[in-house]
Amino acid sequence: MTQPIQWSDAFKVGIEKIDFQHKNLYEAISRFLTAVAENKDVAEIKKMLDFVGNYIFEHFSTEEDYMGRYEYPAALHHKSEHQAFIEEFRRMKNQYELDGATKFISLQLEGWLISWLQKHVAGSDTALGLFLKKKL
Ligand SMILES: [Fe+2]
Ligand SMILES: [Fe+2]
Repeated sequence: MTQPIQWSDAFKVGIEKIDFQHKNLYEAISRFLTAVAENKDVAEIKKMLDFVGNYIFEHFSTEEDYMGRYEYPAALHHKSEHQAFIEEFRRMKNQYELDGATKFISLQLEGWLISWLQKHVAGSDTALGLFLKKKL
């Protein structure tokens, strides 16, 4: 089976710690989506989704620490994207927990998660990487 989401070095933003976390994030999301596609045990799927959520929070705080430390001028905008993500993620996760791992919610979550992450990494995170490379 092809992986639903796959990391590529082309997504690198040039900051080792951020790239390392992005790669781990892609892998965690891929494991979660594969488990959904294979109809794995609900408790197992929930654990994977919790892991993705926690890892994303940790990752956002890594980026936001960098922004604070180096006085990143676009920090407010970047952080608002993170915040919007967290709110939507929580909403979908609650729905997931209420309704169970239905195909509809899984597909919704999959489509949104992948497109958000790809767009954010290619846009805001790449811009942050370019800024940090000049500072580090
Ligand atoms: Fe970010
Ligand atoms: Fe990121």
